[in-house]
Amino acid sequence: MRNKSGQSADSVDENRRSFLKGAMLSLFSVAIGGISLERFFVPTTRNVPVTSYDGKYPTALLVDPDNNPITASEIPYAVPSSSSYPILVFNYPLQDEPNILMRLRNVTIPNAIHVKNSQGGIDSITAYSGICQHLGCTVPLLDYHPGNSIPFEAQLIGYTKSNWPTYGLIYCKCHGSQYDPVRGPHNLYN
Ligand code: FES
Repeated sequence: MRNKSGQSADSVDENRRSFLKGAMLSLFSVAIGGISLERFFVPTTRNVPVTSYDGKYPTALLVDPDNNPITASEIPYAVPSSSSYPILVFNYPLQDEPNILMRLRNVTIPNAIHVKNSQGGIDSITAYSGICQHLGCTVPLLDYHPGNSIPFEAQLIGYTKSNWPTYGLIYCKCHGSQYDPVRGPHNLYN
């Protein structure tokens, strides 16, 4: 979809192309195959952890299994009715270090990549380490859950739709920690 100025509605704001992850990650482009399921992507330089630097952090180009660069418009996102897990998982900088890539609808996260959505709102694309800070549990034990897919384990400790953010939380099933993707990867609820 294109806006009045002829720009793609999902075009990336070039001025805001900084990207969060546990250790921070810069991407040249991002994307995926359009379904709300976890998929695994690898940097083009498989088994070569770092290809270049942006002056601060290693950079990597994410590609799909057919080696096509991922584009922002292909990244799945949660809507209020989402009951699935709209994330992508990619390994970075090493092949055994998973990261969670997500697109949060109508949520503006400082320092994330900001993308205009088809409704005229702004989405944030951000990535966090897929390894929990505590015991090192990895996805899918550490996973993103939008407001309509509160994990059963989280419900047992008192979470309901009234206190689970609509945009969702990252939840570690190993012992129940919750991370708020809007407030940063270090925001630990429990
Ligand atoms: S075991 Fe994952 S946060 Fe504690």
